[in-house]
Amino acid sequence: MAAEKMKAVGLYKYFPIENPDSLIDVELDKPRPAGKDLLVKVKAISVNPVDYKVRSPKEREESAPRVLGWDVAGVVEQVGPDCSLFRPGDEVFYAGSITRPGGNSEFHLVDERIVGRKPSRLDFAHAAALPLTSITAWESLYDRLGISPNKADNAGRTILIIGAAGGVGSIATQLAKYSGLTVIGTASRPESAEWAKELGADYVINHFEAFVPQLKAVGFDQVDYILCLNSTEKHWTNMAEAIAPQGKICSIVETDELLNLTLLKNKSVTFVWELMFTRSMYQTPDLIEQHKLLNEVARLVDEGVLRTTTNVTLRPINAENLRKAHAMLETGRTVGKVVLEGF
Ligand SMILES: NC(=O)c1ccc[n+]([C@@H]2O[C@H](COP(=O)([O-])OP(=O)(O)OC[C@H]3O[C@@H](n4cnc5c(N)ncnc54)[C@H](OP(=O)(O)O)[C@@H]3O)[C@@H](O)[C@H]2O)c1
Repeated sequence: MAAEKMKAVGLYKYFPIENPDSLIDVELDKPRPAGKDLLVKVKAISVNPVDYKVRSPKEREESAPRVLGWDVAGVVEQVGPDCSLFRPGDEVFYAGSITRPGGNSEFHLVDERIVGRKPSRLDFAHAAALPLTSITAWESLYDRLGISPNKADNAGRTILIIGAAGGVGSIATQLAKYSGLTVIGTASRPESAEWAKELGADYVINHFEAFVPQLKAVGFDQVDYILCLNSTEKHWTNMAEAIAPQGKICSIVETDELLNLTLLKNKSVTFVWELMFTRSMYQTPDLIEQHKLLNEVARLVDEGVLRTTTNVTLRPINAENLRKAHAMLETGRTVGKVVLEGF
């Protein structure tokens, strides 16, 4: 029997986004779930810098279309034989795994242990903005920086979030505020500064100027925590100056440059990386923590504590709109998230 087909957006070659072949409409076999996989009917997706980083121009050519996309909101269509967390008909949101095909397709397979239930107060387009960035922000704040989620533990503590209006910054700002930290966000334009304030930043300073004088101007000599969401190497010296003795810095952005850790020595500062794909990439025994944290995020959204970070929605999900979304993200100046809805 011929396999059922589905629509998808993929690539064979790695071109600049202006090239119409950089992302193309394709038809693929509809996959079937095995083991702990869910087959999800994709309703909305969002776009992250990882998409354009993976798609960046290079000589390689794929023999079958490569599908990107690591943010999905959709409905469980079928479950694999070893699934126990979800049933057909459940509304879910998740980021997926970088080692598997992404979710820019009508149907998508994902391990149920990295899937959360979709917040019920959000529609699919508003939910799709959240999973990848929420996992990143949550793991950065609570797992890597070791911040307590409880307000009472963080009185008087400060965090500097570098790139507060971007996708990750928009949810990290809300989570940090929810946990009782004083949040100093960075943004460089009136529009992004306003967005960061609306999401809960107590103060906004400019990431293109030295941090310490700007911090002093708003009443702080140093900060207890720094979450770096952009250009780690460019902010390194500034971060070393702004962090308090025994403070902690987490970065989520890779760099080709060597970082001088010695700058952190006298202050006994901790530096830690966050990669939200680590757990799925290495199949760590605590993989299910991502299921739990996404459910927590859904609960906080439904209780009105967190809000969606969707800023732009394009319809439908096709190559033309996806190329538009990639081009927007490649400017490095998007505010909140860009989402695509409906095939
Ligand atoms: N390790 C992980 O698990 C992980 C997960 C998610 C993302 N990431 C990476 O983290 C980075 C941010 O992701 P994102 O989704 O938040 O990106 P994004 O939404 O594209 O970020 C856009 C924001 O970056 C700000 N920005 C531009 N240049 C900056 C600079 N020099 N310093 C500080 N901020 C600057 C802009 O603010 P203004 O317009 O105000 O300048 C803009 O609001 C990307 O490199 C991404 O690949 C890593």
